[in-house]
Amino acid sequence: MWGRESPSPLAGEGWGGWGEGGHLKTILITGAAGDVGSHLRRELAGRYALRLSDIRRITKPTQGEAYVRGDVARLGDMLRVTKGVDAIVHLGGHSGEGPWKDILRANIVGCYNVFEAARRNGVPRILFATSNHATGFYQRDERIDHRVYPKPDSRYGLSKVFGEQLGSLYSDRYGLQVFCMRIGNVNPAPVDKRRLSLWLSPRDLAQLVQIGIEHPGIRFEIVYGVSNNQRTWYDNSNAERLGFRPQDGSEPFAAAVLAREKSSNDPIAETYQGGTFCRAEVGGDPARSYPRRRKASRR
Ligand SMILES: NC(=O)c1ccc[n+]([C@@H]2O[C@H](COP(=O)([O-])OP(=O)(O)OC[C@H]3O[C@@H](n4cnc5c(N)ncnc54)[C@H](O)[C@@H]3O)[C@@H](O)[C@H]2O)c1
Repeated sequence: MWGRESPSPLAGEGWGGWGEGGHLKTILITGAAGDVGSHLRRELAGRYALRLSDIRRITKPTQGEAYVRGDVARLGDMLRVTKGVDAIVHLGGHSGEGPWKDILRANIVGCYNVFEAARRNGVPRILFATSNHATGFYQRDERIDHRVYPKPDSRYGLSKVFGEQLGSLYSDRYGLQVFCMRIGNVNPAPVDKRRLSLWLSPRDLAQLVQIGIEHPGIRFEIVYGVSNNQRTWYDNSNAERLGFRPQDGSEPFAAAVLAREKSSNDPIAETYQGGTFCRAEVGGDPARSYPRRRKASRR
């Protein structure tokens, strides 16, 4: 069952970031050198002690931050970097469609290692950055909530469904508290028509992450990581139930976005929420269709 009941919304609770015994909570961010990690570092600065982990070096950690190198695909690394933290925000991995071997290593093996290391080290809570691509094969004229059956649109989306289900298992079996955020697209502003429906502003992202860290009643939840967008495809009532009140919305950007967007002749991309991720590759080897690193622009 998706989205188990949690008592008491956050309203009225402290948002201070202090753990039991009065220590400032230490939050591990995997994939902290990436786009989302960079927004989060800025938005959460001073609120928590941030342990930043990535395979890429972070050269200038600021006050309250510490960098620890770690490859999520290596269990030993994850056992080391998860030690002693209060919660994990798991962002690290392959952040778009890609060859199976890359998705398998970074997103399937990597995700398993993060959850398993958390279990072994007694970390109570994981926030998992899942994606709209876990449900990308729902049509744009449908409105979906956190209870719908997943419909991944890509190997990438499939890996996010794996992570959500891993979270469900670790919650039920081991009592880990798991908060899955199906993120739309994090950006200072929405960049195209599709993302008018998916946009998540950095400050709304930070609010959702804080709920994931602080809300006392979380066992296993799936929420959508989207701002208050009029063109939304989501019923995000589960996030609202937990206290999420997004401050931003995409509509003020809509006229400018639509004016500069050329009309698309791609009926598949236009029909489904996942957009171009829903298109099948032509030819034998899907690995050849995707460069190793693709930037955030097509999420
Ligand atoms: N950016 C978005 O709008 C968006 C939308 C939906 C979901 N997400 C998810 O949020 C997370 C962060 O996205 P992003 O946009 O910051 O991606 P990004 O590609 O900018 O950052 C990902 C980071 O993970 C690191 N990484 C890759 N492989 C790793 C490994 N084996 N071990 C440790 N670190 C590794 C990379 O070095 C990179 O810094 C991803 O899991 C992505 O799937 C992002």
